[in-house]
Amino acid sequence: MISKKIVEVLNSQIKLEANASMQYLSMASWAEINGFNGVANFFYGQSEEERMHMIKLIKFVNERGEKAIIPGLDKATSEFDSLQNLFSTFLKSEENVTNNVNKIVFQCLEEKDYTVHNFMQWYVSEQAEEEALARTILDKFKIIGNDKGGLYLFDRDIENINVSEE
Ligand code: FEO
Repeated sequence: MISKKIVEVLNSQIKLEANASMQYLSMASWAEINGFNGVANFFYGQSEEERMHMIKLIKFVNERGEKAIIPGLDKATSEFDSLQNLFSTFLKSEENVTNNVNKIVFQCLEEKDYTVHNFMQWYVSEQAEEEALARTILDKFKIIGNDKGGLYLFDRDIENINVSEE
């Protein structure tokens, strides 16, 4: 039995993950059209990951005897003026998701719901990783700026960027 309030915030999280999945799909498509195939692959992958995050939540809510709400989606942003802008949107999106994860964790502690709290720890770690990745990538743009050669190499090497490089 999960409280009504916690079911509500879990359902908000389902919607946020769904929106993030569509947002990243839109970003993958933008990158593909603009010739950044490495970045496109990165966001196609991110979009899949967010879909998995959403499904994991849906199953958890349903398996606990509650009802997951399959959400209507917000319209994804589809215009970006640069790669840097694309990755700033990525970071903002992740920060937004983290805020809601924190809200759920807070609510779990308020209500002493340690089962949901335990389940959410996976999301807490995942968010820390995703935000660190977005920040690591944005740091690269401080070096690259608008240099075309730099952007070319960035696109070629993005699959190999990981947070431990910092
Ligand atoms: Fe599942 Fe990156 O939010």
